[in-house]
Amino acid sequence: MKQIRIGLLGMGNIGTGTYKTLEMNKAHIMAGTGLDLAITRILEKDLARKRDVTVAPEQFTQEAADILEAPDIDIVIELLGGIEPATGFMLTAMQNGKHVVTANKAAVAANYDKLLNTARANRVMFRFEASVGGGIPILNALTAALIANEYEEIRGILNGTTNYILTQMAEGGLSYEQALKSAQAQGFAEADPTADVEGHDVANKLSILISLAFGKRVPPETIPTVGITGITMRDIENASAQGGKLKLIALARKKGGDIEYSVGPTFVANAHPLAGVNNEFNAIFVKGNAVGELMFYGKGAGPLPTGSAVMGDVIEIARAVAR
Ligand code: HSE
Repeated sequence: MKQIRIGLLGMGNIGTGTYKTLEMNKAHIMAGTGLDLAITRILEKDLARKRDVTVAPEQFTQEAADILEAPDIDIVIELLGGIEPATGFMLTAMQNGKHVVTANKAAVAANYDKLLNTARANRVMFRFEASVGGGIPILNALTAALIANEYEEIRGILNGTTNYILTQMAEGGLSYEQALKSAQAQGFAEADPTADVEGHDVANKLSILISLAFGKRVPPETIPTVGITGITMRDIENASAQGGKLKLIALARKKGGDIEYSVGPTFVANAHPLAGVNNEFNAIFVKGNAVGELMFYGKGAGPLPTGSAVMGDVIEIARAVAR
């Protein structure tokens, strides 16, 4: 059986969830694909951290080159987060003929063209399903199953942390600070949760969706973005009294010959399906000119849902490599 060797950059929450997804489903993946996937080397500083997976100490390295330049690594998974050094590492991996998978929406949104062009120039695959919507296969849907459509609108809840905070404030009686702490403890929040609560994480994801759905590059910093830090308990109670909820909504739609886009807290009437999307769940409405309206729903954050999407990309690449 062909072994595909994987190098992992970063073993924080998502790295651990990815490793665990492979560990718990390895036999099933082998039986289904005929491939032996192995995460053989891991770049990680924090060796003391307690992880609920079996990793031999010799799998860890402190040197990125041990993965990026290793002739025995086929696929690199980048889960460091942040724009640099993550982008530089991905480009080096591609230049060294390695396929790359990432969950890093900040790096993909900031360097979309550079990453895709470098992958193309080096004839390697680059996949980033986990960067938008966590476990929801929205990028695969937009670029494969729905590719026959012209997209008219994308509207969604794209951040688990803020949706968790808004849900807990509305239903769980938690304060903003308590809800944020709980989201961090469960591994939903970014290392610096400012990116979540200020809406920048959603702007990164919307920028990626616009590239794939509308073929237009809209840098995330040019998307009009409002976060949830200004939302008070009173705003939430007012929304409830008016028969709805406040949700952090990302919107991109065709208007005239152009596209309009924004990220911000929005009143959603209880009758609307997006009002029922709670806690770390995400949902994305897509309107295509042939298929009509679709809604994708699932866990948008967290180690295992995100690990599921990362490993899906890895397996897709491994299959192609094996062919
Ligand atoms: N911090 C992000 C969120 C992680 O809460 O949705 C998933 O992209």
